[in-house]
Amino acid sequence: CGIVAYVGQKQACPIIINGLKRLEYRGYDSAGVALYKDGVIDVTKSKGKVALLQEALEGKDTNATVGIGHTRWATHGEPSTVNAHPHYSGDKKLAIIHNGIIENYASLRQELMARGHKFESKTDTEVLIHLIEDIQANEKVDIVEAVRIALNEVVGAYAIVVLSKDNPDMLIAAKKGSPLVVGIGEQGDFYLASDATPIIDYTKNVVYLEEEEIAVASLKDGLSIKTIKNQQKTPYVQKLEMELEAIEKGGYDHFMLKEIYEQPKSIKDTMRGRIHLDKGLIALGGIRDYERALANARRIIFVACGTSWHAGLVAEYLFEELTRIPVEVEYASEFRYRNPIIYDDDIVIAISQSGETADTLAALEIAKQKGATTLGICNVVGSTISRVTDAGAYTHAGPEIGVASTKAFTAQVTVATLMALHIAHFKGSINTSQFNRYLFEFQSIPDKVERVLEKAAESKVIAEIYKDATNALFLGRGINFPVALEGALKLKEISYIHAEGYPAAEMKHGPIALIDENMPVFVIANQGPSYKKVVSNIEEVKARSGKVIAIVTEGDKDVKDMADYSFEVPECDELFTPLLTVVPLQLISYHVAVMRGCNVDQPRNLAKSVTVE
Ligand code: G6P
Repeated sequence: CGIVAYVGQKQACPIIINGLKRLEYRGYDSAGVALYKDGVIDVTKSKGKVALLQEALEGKDTNATVGIGHTRWATHGEPSTVNAHPHYSGDKKLAIIHNGIIENYASLRQELMARGHKFESKTDTEVLIHLIEDIQANEKVDIVEAVRIALNEVVGAYAIVVLSKDNPDMLIAAKKGSPLVVGIGEQGDFYLASDATPIIDYTKNVVYLEEEEIAVASLKDGLSIKTIKNQQKTPYVQKLEMELEAIEKGGYDHFMLKEIYEQPKSIKDTMRGRIHLDKGLIALGGIRDYERALANARRIIFVACGTSWHAGLVAEYLFEELTRIPVEVEYASEFRYRNPIIYDDDIVIAISQSGETADTLAALEIAKQKGATTLGICNVVGSTISRVTDAGAYTHAGPEIGVASTKAFTAQVTVATLMALHIAHFKGSINTSQFNRYLFEFQSIPDKVERVLEKAAESKVIAEIYKDATNALFLGRGINFPVALEGALKLKEISYIHAEGYPAAEMKHGPIALIDENMPVFVIANQGPSYKKVVSNIEEVKARSGKVIAIVTEGDKDVKDMADYSFEVPECDELFTPLLTVVPLQLISYHVAVMRGCNVDQPRNLAKSVTVE
């Protein structure tokens, strides 16, 4: 997840190690460095923290002026020393560090193995460096050209830096979908990194690579850039003006805001390599062996806590609607102590960002004891829950640092949607043309989330008006009822305003007694099967002088006229709406918390991962 590289006259190793430490805020599970010296590229790696990598380097001769370093946050292959970067080519003449996901790595790996390549790790990255080596040998081209050709063959996202033993006075970098910055040193030396934090101490002159650009940072020839289609580019040198802390947060004031804005990318990353529109299929490698068991399940039981439990509730609507399999969603902490009834043709699916939540883990153990098949939907690769389950599908949201979960939630919902659609198609509970229609629409969701974020300024206006409320109500129906719960949770977690989420129609059985002119009521009122009913619920609130803030579909008139404020989201199939409607609620909570002076990223009394009962 973090890249640091250096070529110049200085000692590369301390620059790389310090840089990797600067990137620690991003989260990682292993680290490594490759240094070139006396005709050899020497790689040192270790699982765990950068401090352990430093220990591994002790006693080694690290006297080198060119090198590459990496901190890895696992996406393919568990966290381990072997899977840590850098990775070598087969002849050890090349080393690579990589952020991102190569989607077609499995087929490339097979082709390369057929041609005699041997792999040490399970990573997509090692495949890429072998591919570069293969091209260089077979097409008799130089290393830069080999990198260029290879990048035309890969599908996916990458930020890479390649070190070549035969060209130790230069580094080759490229980027697509994952950032890469080149810092230009005062002595013609170069600092390369995944963001500017490792660079800022040395130089303020930087070039941010654009999509599909390859940079060659050469001590002889300076910096040159071209595209993977071989178009020459003129490097655009910028002056870094941000403070270190601002760079860590990608220029955002808080990690939570950064993570909210990352959602188009994290949803796309979670879909990456799994949706195949051309072939009309969804590929979820992790659960391949359990498709039949899922399709034939008597029941599916989701167990989770907190925001992940809300993702489970969304999954309930998705699975029941699409697969017609009965679903239950359980708080893990309740489930574990209830002597739950579990049949051996039940499937228990744990949802957990961290993969370490104690209650969720205990619930799984009980399900296992009672003979159920267990699956996981986790964000952290190699986490305990991902290891104890029979199988699973990861969310690829990247590390989530803000305690209040945002991008992990939408990634969980994304995986649940993929699973439900896939099983429904497998089972035949939806036909191929329905499936294809869903698939086509689903892959447009990241762009629609982007459109929601374009209107973020409106969430600030709404926050300004309601920031002093002491109570708030969140209402939604159908698949947006869990979104109402999540909206209320976000508000109470970070702004300490008491908030409750309710199914809109239940309001009249209790919460309606609380409504007066001081009570903001957030209503998810998108166009959908329950639109008209929600309109009636809004009228009930208005009749009692409540203030209504409505999340509506673009172009809506009726609710807009009734509501005090409204926030538009693009139209989409009802089943996919939670991925859009939750975003304005995240934004409003965020702004309210900031305006109230709360510690947004680390709210009082809360922990990111609760590993005690
Ligand atoms: C804590 C966090 C929440 C999270 C919950 C479950 O309460 O603050 O954001 O939703 O744990 O965590 P998990 O890692 O299992 O998703």
